Amino acid sequence: MIKSSMKDLEKEQKQVLATPRMNYGFLSKSLFVFMDLIYGRKKTLSKFKVLEIIARVPYQAWESVAYVAITHTHSVPNFAQRIFDFVKESRLQQDNEQWHLLILEELIHKKNIRENFLKYRLLPQIIALSYYHISWILYVIKPSLSYQMNAEFEDHAEHEYMEFVNEHPELDKESYAGDFTKEYGSFDTLSDLFRQIGLDEQHHKEESLDRIKHPRF
Ligand SMILES: [Fe+2]
Ligand SMILES: [Fe+2]
Repeated sequence: MIKSSMKDLEKEQKQVLATPRMNYGFLSKSLFVFMDLIYGRKKTLSKFKVLEIIARVPYQAWESVAYVAITHTHSVPNFAQRIFDFVKESRLQQDNEQWHLLILEELIHKKNIRENFLKYRLLPQIIALSYYHISWILYVIKPSLSYQMNAEFEDHAEHEYMEFVNEHPELDKESYAGDFTKEYGSFDTLSDLFRQIGLDEQHHKEESLDRIKHPRF
């Protein structure tokens, strides 16, 4: 995560809001429509948490394929090393998504938001498992297909967070004092926290698009 100042975060948010979303492909569109049908179109902390449960899995799928590739290519150490660098990069993004997830869970607990077990515990895991396999298969067929799908997912998340902040000016007055400030950073308000998360999603998107343009190995 590249931490930005409060002013920068506001500037970034304005920029995202002024930028149209990407043209989503069939798979991404289907996922977003499905999510809206099940969790509603309204942006809520619980819906964001579901998004974060799913967000980590492409990185896990790429990591698992990359480790298999290392096993097959260790006789060419330089090549295997490049794959391992890719693993480390994926892990950083995965960890970043993990903090997003834990922060959201923490906020949901603090606000005493009640969640249905089936909708918010069981179903997200089923969606994540399916999404993992789709990411894995696409990656095996052609890595750029998987990166493209992830870039679309991240673009969607980036816009959702920034719009959420825009739709809830009251978040500007809500201070953030979470348990994960040491790991994720401290923010004066919930607005800034969500702007930073939105900005992280933008960086994840850019990294995926960059991998399409400049394959790592
Ligand atoms: Fe995230
Ligand atoms: Fe992300």
